Amino acid sequence: MAMIPAVILAAGLGKRMKSKRAKVLHRIAGRPMILFSVEAARDLPSERIIVVVAHQAELLKEVLENRQVEIVHQGRPLGTGHAVLQVRSSLADYKGPILILNADVPLIAVETLRSLVKLHREREADVTLLTAMLSDAEGYGRIIRMPEGGEITGIVEEADATPAQRAIREINTGFYIINAPFLFEGLSELESNNKQGEYYLTDIVGTALRQGRKVCGTPVNDYHEIMGVNTRLDLARIEKVAALEIARRHMLEGVTLLDPDTTWIDSDVKIGKDTVIYPDVRLEGTSVIGEDCIIHSHSRISDCRLGTGVTVKDSCVLSDSVLEDGVGVGPFAHLRPGTVLHKGARIGNFVEAKKAEIGEGSKASHLSYLGDTVIGKDVNIGAGTITCNYDGVNKNVTIIEDDVFIGSDTQLIAPVRIGRGAIVGAGSTITDDVPADALAIGRAKQEIKKDWAKKRKKRKGS
Ligand code: UD1
Ligand code: CA
Repeated sequence: MAMIPAVILAAGLGKRMKSKRAKVLHRIAGRPMILFSVEAARDLPSERIIVVVAHQAELLKEVLENRQVEIVHQGRPLGTGHAVLQVRSSLADYKGPILILNADVPLIAVETLRSLVKLHREREADVTLLTAMLSDAEGYGRIIRMPEGGEITGIVEEADATPAQRAIREINTGFYIINAPFLFEGLSELESNNKQGEYYLTDIVGTALRQGRKVCGTPVNDYHEIMGVNTRLDLARIEKVAALEIARRHMLEGVTLLDPDTTWIDSDVKIGKDTVIYPDVRLEGTSVIGEDCIIHSHSRISDCRLGTGVTVKDSCVLSDSVLEDGVGVGPFAHLRPGTVLHKGARIGNFVEAKKAEIGEGSKASHLSYLGDTVIGKDVNIGAGTITCNYDGVNKNVTIIEDDVFIGSDTQLIAPVRIGRGAIVGAGSTITDDVPADALAIGRAKQEIKKDWAKKRKKRKGS
């Protein structure tokens, strides 16, 4: 199939979102909405993708960086027709069909766009519209046809529709294929004498028909693909549809989701076969989960890499961390950015780690804070161990070499190094480096006062 250019309309204010943020920057399945249209156009494939922007153009540009798209500014957004007109000079030498997409309709499937292009070519049309039959058409432009589903004669926006027109269930989805140069000539003649005072792209249909050009339209099979986002209610509905589709994709690829309804997986997350995910789990960002992992309920994993056979017990928060094969964490563990757990390492309940590298087979099973630390292999970190990494000004590093045993309730005042094979007695405050194979005890020596308690009791009782 010959490639055709795509124009994505993303300049509207999105007033109905009542948001400080441009509508197309709101996220769906963890991804800014605008990227859905961009990826659909790229998969078509489109040789050129032109995005029309205005509101929060700088933020949009950041999101679109390195995505091989051209950006065109609309200035003041005066309507969808005015938006398309802004790409006229970019496509001045192009004479062929152009795909136009509304960026606030994110779930479109590339197969649907391909069949639209195919139809446009087969019918040798000038304008081809993707329509949809909806039981509730509220908010959409309605398709006007000749009686009994005949030829399309126009599109009327809801704001301008008569009650009879509002009863029409066939709607305009916001995806069009329109031939250049007719498109730009037609748009330059548009007027804005409608309820919203905007230049409507949809009026191009009337222009085409007046010029005796061919307009055709075809309804989409699955209406979920063309759900538009105008309000936060729409956003929540689409988030749900997207989540279920992502869940379905993973299940078909061999991942067990015990409750797909409450499993939220961002679109870029990857999960290996035979991994089991319990209800109420969120997998976010660019996380990659290996095979045979078990992720228990109420855990949130963002931008992490998990190897094979990793177990995450209930209620863990993991971000920007690496968990190698066979690692176990939780319940109630918090791994903050920069944490690396090497093979078979174990982080237990109420342990927080930040920028912590924990060696193969090492364990911190209970109630610890491990920050800015490098821990070797087969180290045992006793319950309640704290790396005191912050002196109020700087963050300092704690190094614990292989085979070290840190007794419970120890504070390691960084910078400090515990040499290979050393033992630190429970309850120690370690301020100085400990040589390899040594025993370090840093606590007040225990005193025994014989019969002291007995005597006190006697005094009190008398
Ligand atoms: C539009 C269609 C409507 C269709 C619906 C499908 C028009 C006039 N109406 O209505 O027939 O049923 O989409 O979802 O086209 N935009 C710009 N510049 C502007 C105005 C809008 O780039 O000046 C962009 C918006 O960012 C958005 C898209 O165009 O991505 C659609 O704009 P919106 O105002 O949401 O149009 P609707 O009222 O939904
Ligand atoms: Ca819209």
